[in-house]
Amino acid sequence: MEYDLLIREAEIQDASAVIALLDQIGQESNFTSLDENGIAMSESEMQHFLDKQAQSDNQITLLAFLNDELVGIINITADQRPRVRHIGDVFLGIKKAYWGNGLGSILMEETIEWAKSSGSIRRLQLTVQKRNLAAVHLYEKMGFIIEGLQERGACIEGGEFLDVYLMGQLIDE
Ligand code: ACO
Repeated sequence: MEYDLLIREAEIQDASAVIALLDQIGQESNFTSLDENGIAMSESEMQHFLDKQAQSDNQITLLAFLNDELVGIINITADQRPRVRHIGDVFLGIKKAYWGNGLGSILMEETIEWAKSSGSIRRLQLTVQKRNLAAVHLYEKMGFIIEGLQERGACIEGGEFLDVYLMGQLIDE
């Protein structure tokens, strides 16, 4: 089957689809802080969030659609205080059925290009569970370096603590 890929910035009309996607990502793996309760946001809260993202020079939400189905998201959030507003925090997630097809890499590439042209972002950073080998590989491939290790950086079902890497990359035009 042929797949038609569209990457675009999220709009407020995407709110309910974004909630459904984040809920699904929470249910399909325990690699993120989203659990079976999902994102736990109302549609109006998500509309407000996406609107703020779209208005902001240092924040963005990009969506990946395959044949009109929302299958992936990358989100950059940033503080607005002048001393730290150049730092973008990354969240990335793809529906499990589509893992391993390059979509995460494409979303990250687009985000790095956006960051370079944003005029405000000079550093991207993220946290990732050490055991999330595909994600760590993707981030290293995209230029992130491991800057530190948080012991007990996450706690999953059953009370198991996990090591979490702090990763970052500097952004220059
Ligand atoms: N060990 C090492 N590398 C691996 C492994 C493994 N066990 N499994 C896959 N890989 C590699 C693949 O070969 C590929 O590398 P390549 O491009 O050099 O061949 C890479 O990992 C995966 O690249 P993509 O296909 O572009 O990524 P994908 O679309 O599958 O998305 C993602 C990756 C986002 C981690 C996806 O698996 C996902 O959504 N997982 C659940 C949510 C999650 O973990 N999100 C990240 C949390 S951390 C954060 O948000 C900052």
